[in-house]
Amino acid sequence: MLNIAVLVSGGGTNLQAIIDAIESGKLKSVAIGCVISNRKDAYALTRAADHNIPGECIRPRDFNSMEEYGDHMADFLRTRNIDLVVLAGFLVVLPANFINAFRGRIINIHPSLIPSFCGDGFYGLKVHEAALARGVKVTGATVHYVDEGTDTGPIILQKAVYVEPGDTPETLQKRVMQQAEWVILPEAIAIIQKELEDRS
Ligand code: GAR
Repeated sequence: MLNIAVLVSGGGTNLQAIIDAIESGKLKSVAIGCVISNRKDAYALTRAADHNIPGECIRPRDFNSMEEYGDHMADFLRTRNIDLVVLAGFLVVLPANFINAFRGRIINIHPSLIPSFCGDGFYGLKVHEAALARGVKVTGATVHYVDEGTDTGPIILQKAVYVEPGDTPETLQKRVMQQAEWVILPEAIAIIQKELEDRS
């Protein structure tokens, strides 16, 4: 069984895609051990509760430093025997001590084809606003391993999505989620599950 933690900050539609993949049997032998949000009001926590998944709000501002926050997060996840950490719309930049504690076991979904429209300041709707402002005709989503940089880790999967005439940031965001993010995030988890099995 692959025990994953899903870290969220908002609506949690990517969390929902993982829950759906598990419940439909597309993702086998995967369990969500916990959902952690940095915001108490994140709707993702309601989604977790609706599916009897333990949810927790852990906020950087409640610690003296990002290092203390990173240590606490690592201890919290180790205590729960988490194998893989999935950042699904998680908007906190994790500190180096946390990255080190789970190196090679943290993945992130980003709503563009990296290396376009990524890095500091590119998150959520801003990514799609920038893609439309540049006039790209194709965008998409990327799942990648997380290292100390912002969106710099090795790429696991990408899926392209066409920009359509008349797209707004909101319509483009929705299409990228539906056609790319919700598809490749569960797929990436399955790929890592197989890699970890092959290694053991
Ligand atoms: C998603 O589009 C995700 O790719 C993006 O935030 C959204 C969260 O939606 N993440 C980033 O921009 C990270 N740089 P969700 O809460 O409905 O899954």
